[in-house]
Amino acid sequence: VSLRPYNTFGLEVKARLFARFTSVEELRALLALPEVQAATKLVLGGGSNLLFTQDFDGVVLKNEIRGLDIISQDAETALVRAGAGESWHGLVQYTLDQELSGIENLSLIPGTVGAAPLQNIGAYGSELKDTFEQLEALEISTGQVRTFSAAECGFGYRESVFKGPLKNQFIVTGVVLRLQRQARPNLSYGAIKTTLEDLGIGGEPTPREVSEAVMHIRRSKLPDPTQIGNAGSFFKNPEVSQLKYDELKAHFPELPGYPVPGGVKVPAAWLIEQCGWKGQRRGAHGVHDKQALVLVNHGGALGHDIRELAHDIIASVREKFGIELHPEVNIL
Ligand code: EPU
Repeated sequence: VSLRPYNTFGLEVKARLFARFTSVEELRALLALPEVQAATKLVLGGGSNLLFTQDFDGVVLKNEIRGLDIISQDAETALVRAGAGESWHGLVQYTLDQELSGIENLSLIPGTVGAAPLQNIGAYGSELKDTFEQLEALEISTGQVRTFSAAECGFGYRESVFKGPLKNQFIVTGVVLRLQRQARPNLSYGAIKTTLEDLGIGGEPTPREVSEAVMHIRRSKLPDPTQIGNAGSFFKNPEVSQLKYDELKAHFPELPGYPVPGGVKVPAAWLIEQCGWKGQRRGAHGVHDKQALVLVNHGGALGHDIRELAHDIIASVREKFGIELHPEVNIL
């Protein structure tokens, strides 16, 4: 089966086996098949955070569990449950239609609801963990569904237990978020305020207006995967100690940095741009010209070549700044 339609890099790779499931029961039935039990399994949501460097010699299980519901509410908050196979942005739009606030800053992030907790998706001053209530996940070894609280998910910057100690052990089937009935706009990210002004939106913005501003920013910087293959930020933003930051700042006075507990977070995009990579092209693949953190497939690139480009970028950032970049994208 060609995985080309199922990865936003648009890479032409094949999977030995491929199946979809639309419910927990269907998933259990698939997992009970001998050929599935024996195979390496890859659960796919939107395929928006993956780089295939070769054909996948296992079974791809595509999560298509649907459902968007308000499961309870009180005066202040509402609990929204979403099936893991729903599109993340579809969920954002649903919550805006229900006049709920909390995930508007996470508008237009590609991928599915089920993939969101794996890496605690974040953008424009918000992270999934800020509204996360719990998730349901099926344990592959037992077929049992278990719920995980936010604490049990071990969320960090683009991290969770499902990328660490519990990797490949659970399949997320549903996610519950706690959203606010009263808007609480998060305008901490400077570009949201300036974009709202540019869009002529004054005063206290509604969640929908914040969503529009975020979509405007994303469209201006990030390539639309249906036009140019990509998987968003390819690397995480590295954290360095205050000491290391001060040393670098002495050499590179323009170096941006954001304080975080235990050090300073440095934008990987800035480091990559300083190494001269922004907008570089190597045949069919390259570095996006409007956002240096995004690697792109202009059409017909091989995952292997994109990985090689990533290695070269890591090496040049290491050489110039002594900082080690780590991929944010899952490389297979
Ligand atoms: N910058 C450059 N050159 C560039 C782009 C950015 O120097 O080409 C510098 C600037 O100093 C800028 C800073 O980087 O102020 C931050 O840039 P931006 O706001 O675009 O954010 P980012 O750090 O590049 C992160 C997330 C994005 C998220 C944005 C907005 C990671 C790995 N990436 O990118 O998430 O949308 O912030 O909050 O944390 C993703 O994970 O796939 C993703 C797109």
